[in-house]
Amino acid sequence: MKRIAITGAAGLVGTGLRAQLLKRGYRVLSLDIKQVQNIAAHEEAAVVDITDQAAMTQQLQGCDAVVHLAACTTDAPWTEQVKLSVEGCISVFDAARDAGVRRVVYASSHHVVGMHPRVPHGPRMGNTAILRPDSRYAVGKAFGESIGALYAYKYGMQVLSVRIGNVNTRPIDRRRMGSWVSWRDLAQLVAIGIEREDLVFEIVYGVSDATGRHYNNAAAYALGYLPEDGSEGWDDEVLREDPPPAAGSKAARSAAEITLGGQFSQSEYEGSTDRLLPHARNAA
Ligand SMILES: NC(=O)c1ccc[n+]([C@@H]2O[C@H](COP(=O)([O-])OP(=O)(O)OC[C@H]3O[C@@H](n4cnc5c(N)ncnc54)[C@H](O)[C@@H]3O)[C@@H](O)[C@H]2O)c1
Repeated sequence: MKRIAITGAAGLVGTGLRAQLLKRGYRVLSLDIKQVQNIAAHEEAAVVDITDQAAMTQQLQGCDAVVHLAACTTDAPWTEQVKLSVEGCISVFDAARDAGVRRVVYASSHHVVGMHPRVPHGPRMGNTAILRPDSRYAVGKAFGESIGALYAYKYGMQVLSVRIGNVNTRPIDRRRMGSWVSWRDLAQLVAIGIEREDLVFEIVYGVSDATGRHYNNAAAYALGYLPEDGSEGWDDEVLREDPPPAAGSKAARSAAEITLGGQFSQSEYEGSTDRLLPHARNAA
């Protein structure tokens, strides 16, 4: 039975994933700066700060993989992004290396490409586009993808970066019809990161089946991902709850409406949104 460490295990994603990974037959080591509640059978837990590399190295001894979730999860000032999502991330990758743990599944976010236009304003987004983070939060997430690539290609680690969309029991608005991921689909992607023998480094979108919507998740399918859930069938209900703005209105031209990042792109947005559209480079 493989032993999997999860950082940020007391948080929203950690709490859901712990249960999913236990269900899949893993032993889980739940790590968080807060006390983790409701410890199950086949689960251990410890309070640890991810920025304390020596303590993390000690915790990770004997683990087969780390699922790294702990980060700055709001668009807080830079100092907090740097502390948790940069220094914390370096600490976790170095601790894994020192403890002989070769596999890391890194919780990235689709917000690393959040300033790109979404369908129908632009093409579906694959995993090779130039990053356009939509927030300080997303810059922190993008850093983790870079360190994952460095440690995989240079130091022989095996890293799956999952650009998680929105984990929930259902798609909660129009934008998230394209980025919703169910708990079991997210767990399937994490399990691919833990198990796939030939993995070196890959970036996938943590979304359920959203064919034709925002993301091109070919890289995940190539690794064997077969989502069990999808946003098809939700359109009527979601459109009733979240109708589109009138064509040509200010709301329809807003960054929230045009981009993959939605409100993250809208927050602090300055000026016209014309520069977000695919023709912007030619128009400049
Ligand atoms: N919730 C989503 O739908 C979603 C979407 C995209 C990406 N993600 C990513 O998934 C991860 C988890 O997100 P979440 O929604 O569960 O966030 P959360 O804020 O609910 O959980 C984060 C957890 O990290 C812990 N933590 C914070 N600082 C720590 C430290 N120094 N040491 C150890 N633990 C620390 C917190 O105590 C908390 O339990 C994040 O990396 C986030 O960027 C989540």
